[in-house]
Amino acid sequence: MSEIIAILNQKGGCGKTTTAVNLSAALAQSDRKVLVIDMDPQGNATTGLGINKNNQTNTIYSILTGDNSIMETIVETSVPQLDIVPSNIDLSGAELELSKTIGPHSILKEALDGFVDNYDYIFIDVPPSLGLLTLNSIVASDSVIIPIQAEFYALEGMADLLQAMELVKSRLNSPSPIKGILLTLYDSRTRLGRDVYNNVKQYFGETENIFKTTIPRNVKLAEAPSHGIPCIIYDEECSGTEAYQNLAKEIISMEGQGDNK
Ligand SMILES: Nc1ncnc2c1ncn2[C@@H]1O[C@H](COP(=O)(O)OP(=O)(O)O)[C@@H](O)[C@H]1O
Ligand SMILES: [Mg+2]
Repeated sequence: MSEIIAILNQKGGCGKTTTAVNLSAALAQSDRKVLVIDMDPQGNATTGLGINKNNQTNTIYSILTGDNSIMETIVETSVPQLDIVPSNIDLSGAELELSKTIGPHSILKEALDGFVDNYDYIFIDVPPSLGLLTLNSIVASDSVIIPIQAEFYALEGMADLLQAMELVKSRLNSPSPIKGILLTLYDSRTRLGRDVYNNVKQYFGETENIFKTTIPRNVKLAEAPSHGIPCIIYDEECSGTEAYQNLAKEIISMEGQGDNK
C-alpha cells in the first residue's frame, strides 16, 4: 500500500511544489517508487519534472471528471522510479464542476481507492487555496506535510488551514494527521529566521512533529524547474539538494512506525 501525503498550505510561494518535486526525487533515488499527483491548475510540478503540460489530454482533470482512471494518466519522468499525474489549466474549471456533483470532496479519494499500484509514496502537490481541490487532497491523503516559509507572516492563515483539516476529519470522517511541519526558505543566521522558527515551535511544538531538516534559501532550487529536472539532479552538491536528501532520510526513518497512517 502506498503512503499518500498531501503537501499543503493555502499560501502561494511557500515551497509546496519545490518540496513535492525534490522530496519525491530524493525518495526515488533512495530506491522508493514515487508518484506525484499535480493538483494545481498552474501545473508547476508537471513542468518542473520535465513534462510539457500543454499537450497532455489525460490529466488530473480527466480523473476528477471520471473520464480517465489514474492508471491512464500516469507519465514517467526522466527520474527513474518517479512518475507523475500531470495537470494543466484545464483543471481551473474543475472546482465549479465538482461543486455540482454528489460527494464533491471525495472524488480523488474514490479514484485512488480502486488504484492497485506499487508505489511506496504518492505526493499530492496542492494548489494555494482552501477550495475543493485542496479539500479533495486532504480527504485522499493519509497525512499532510505543511511547508511554512520563514517570513514575517508565516503563521497567518494557519488557523484556517487547521480548521479545514478539522472539518475534513469530523464531517467527512477522514482524518489526515500532520506528518510534519517543514520550515522552508529558512536562514538560521538571521534574526527573522530564528524568530519564525521559535514561533512555529510555540504554535506546533507541543503537539505536532516539526521536521529536524529545514530547507535553506538556495537559488539552485529556483533555477532547476526551468531545466525540467529536480534540483537534486540539476546540482547534486548544492545546499538545497542536501536539505531535500536529509528530509527524505527523515521520512524514511518514519517508515513502519505507522503513527501517521
Ligand atoms: N528553498 C528555496 N530557495 C530558493 N527558492 C525557492 C525555494 N523554495 C522555493 N523557491 C522558489 O520560490 C517560488 C515558489 O516556490 P514553490 O515551490 O513554487 O511554492 P508553492 O508551490 O508553495 O507556491 C518558486 O519560484 C521556487 O523556485
Ligand atoms: Mg505550487
